[in-house]
Amino acid sequence: MKVICLLGSPRTNGNSSTIAHKFCNTLKKAGSEIEYIELNKLDYKGCQACDACKKNGGECILKDDLEDVFASVKKSDVIVLASPVYFGDVSAQLKGFVDRMRSYRFKEKICKERTLNLEPSKKLVMILSQKAGAKYFNDLYPTYKTLFEGSLGIKVMPLIRGCNLDKKSDASNNANLMNDVESMARKLITVGT
Ligand SMILES: Cc1cc2nc3c(=O)[nH]c(=O)nc-3n(C[C@H](O)[C@H](O)[C@H](O)COP(=O)(O)O)c2cc1C
Repeated sequence: MKVICLLGSPRTNGNSSTIAHKFCNTLKKAGSEIEYIELNKLDYKGCQACDACKKNGGECILKDDLEDVFASVKKSDVIVLASPVYFGDVSAQLKGFVDRMRSYRFKEKICKERTLNLEPSKKLVMILSQKAGAKYFNDLYPTYKTLFEGSLGIKVMPLIRGCNLDKKSDASNNANLMNDVESMARKLITVGT
């Protein structure tokens, strides 16, 4: 499998990145090819709502560092999106990318008449790390799942989430979490979910 892993935290090697690396390393050991992209190191704008993509077959016309990311996403089988929870949502770095993904949907009609500039077989894995406990921010994943599946036709895998994580090293020091992440990666390899 070809995997693109987008890291949405400004903290290199922070919690969401640690979880994402654990997940992707497990896929790599099983033969997957992994490309990591640290979004915070790229230069790009948010969606400009110009709707050029709606008329040109689903290509974002903004010329910035996301051009290469979009090309890699199109070639990948699995898209991993990792982010800290910031103010109850994903980081601005990841949200900026997610909004730009709307360019893949180029015919603004609902359901059957919709056309996507993206192969339908892609899978997406969402990874979140948060300081709060597990009873908070449970609305985040279902919302993104609905949008990725409904608007972009991407199959969204079960959420991988680290809770009660704050210091950069909290995820790597949490053996149970690391084991769970590894199990979820193995499950994706063996049963495809
Ligand atoms: C600007 C900012 C906003 C945050 N907002 C939240 C929040 O709404 N809920 C929460 O549980 N944690 C919040 N946090 C804490 C981070 O989500 C938490 O420390 C996370 O584990 C960091 O992941 P990282 O190491 O991958 O950056 C916030 C942190 C920052 C810097």
